[in-house]
Amino acid sequence: MEPVLAYIDQHRDRFVRELQDWVKIPSISSDPEHKADLVKNAEHLAAELRRLGADRVEIWPTEGHPAVFAEWKHAPGGPTLLIYGHHDVQPVDPLDLWVTPPFEPAIREKRLWGRGVVDDKGQVHIHVKAIEAFVKTVGKLPVNLKLIVEGEEEVGSEHLEGLLRDKAKDLEADFVCVSDTSMFGRGIPSLCVGLRGLLYLEVRVDGPSTDLHSGSFGGGVANPVNALARMIARLHDDSGQVLVPGFYDKVRPLSAVERQEIAGLPFDEKEWLDSTGAPAAVGEAGYSTLERIWARPTLDCCGITGGFGGAGAKTIIPAFATAKVSCRLVPDQEPEVLEKLVGDYLKKVAPVGVRVTVTYLHGGRPYLAPTDHPVYDVAKRAFSKAFGAPTVFIREGGSIPFVRTIADATGKPCLLMGFGQPDENSHAPNEWLDLENYHLGIKSAVYLYEELGKLPLPKP
Ligand code: BES
Ligand code: MN
Ligand code: MN
Repeated sequence: MEPVLAYIDQHRDRFVRELQDWVKIPSISSDPEHKADLVKNAEHLAAELRRLGADRVEIWPTEGHPAVFAEWKHAPGGPTLLIYGHHDVQPVDPLDLWVTPPFEPAIREKRLWGRGVVDDKGQVHIHVKAIEAFVKTVGKLPVNLKLIVEGEEEVGSEHLEGLLRDKAKDLEADFVCVSDTSMFGRGIPSLCVGLRGLLYLEVRVDGPSTDLHSGSFGGGVANPVNALARMIARLHDDSGQVLVPGFYDKVRPLSAVERQEIAGLPFDEKEWLDSTGAPAAVGEAGYSTLERIWARPTLDCCGITGGFGGAGAKTIIPAFATAKVSCRLVPDQEPEVLEKLVGDYLKKVAPVGVRVTVTYLHGGRPYLAPTDHPVYDVAKRAFSKAFGAPTVFIREGGSIPFVRTIADATGKPCLLMGFGQPDENSHAPNEWLDLENYHLGIKSAVYLYEELGKLPLPKP
């Protein structure tokens, strides 16, 4: 291992420069204007993997954006690790809040700043450089390795299930590792053992076929904006409990041990609240902030539009109003079930005189890791060796649809070994990557491959 680790130290700055080159490609998956950039982005990664002598490097087109696949078969008869990441990034607006432009990645304060530096290009790159360190020193990897890097994660991984089905044989593995989450805090290696799922709906309320004069018609027909506001207001009671019948039916309660583990983490509630800028922490009675974010479901209105919003006054009854409504789901809530429950409820509480349409935009299933599997101890050891500190188990409130999909399809455990920071500004202006985490992340990956290569395989 010494030459591999020495190589990582030696080439530390060049690795960052190469990551910068990749971050310069604006791979915003939600924006049709950037469609060609996602192809360019995938090709950029594929070219780098080809230089690392992979046995196979392929770009897998989808009806949306392409994924990149690569494979190294260096350990005949040994275990196979499948690594997942995504190469698409979030939009960048509001652009004027960025200190340096999002696609001109800059180094300040031992951080790399730019869109996608940590979510998720930097974390994919950690694995690319771990592979390079083995290939360029000892000449081979200690484990069979497969890499799948998708291009639609930030828009709901619409074509991923189909891809996993079509390519099931190519993606067979003994363990899965995803690096797309954050550490609990500075210098605390953190394995994420739970993710929330997602259900994202659009609600449209239609009234008259066109905006009407509110003097001539107001009081005589229903107002869609008023109606939608009343519907949103009926999603929760005054204490914040969701009022949709059946919403909590499948929610798995936290065990005493799980609550104890969460309570034992070094969480500074005041610091966390300050980082949000919100005046107070608010949530479901009977649960701590971390429990609320990690293990309890939510139902939120993410945006609402309708009627007149321009300068001055305009006296109308608007023709329609829309809202984006999303749920963060926890085990064992499933998006299909919640879609029906929430959709039916919204229609039921709609006032008379409007038409309601609910459209499914996207979803993802929640995940809980089988932490009694030996691979979690291996990962803890590898992570701790690199960072020189004990590894903690955490959960995340966010979602990565791939994780449950691959876990269900293969029955194999999925390690979530992430190298972000809680205040990394992912999805926001001034996203940053801690360059020490990037460097130690490469070493964590190297230790992980080494240790996984030594694990005995279960007898078939
Ligand atoms: N990397 C995130 C997932 C994540 C979120 C990890 C928060 C750690 C903390 C991922 O790229 C993401 O943003 N996921 C989306 C999924 C959605 C678009 C289906 C999310 O959680 O909103
Ligand atoms: Mn991500
Ligand atoms: Mn993201």
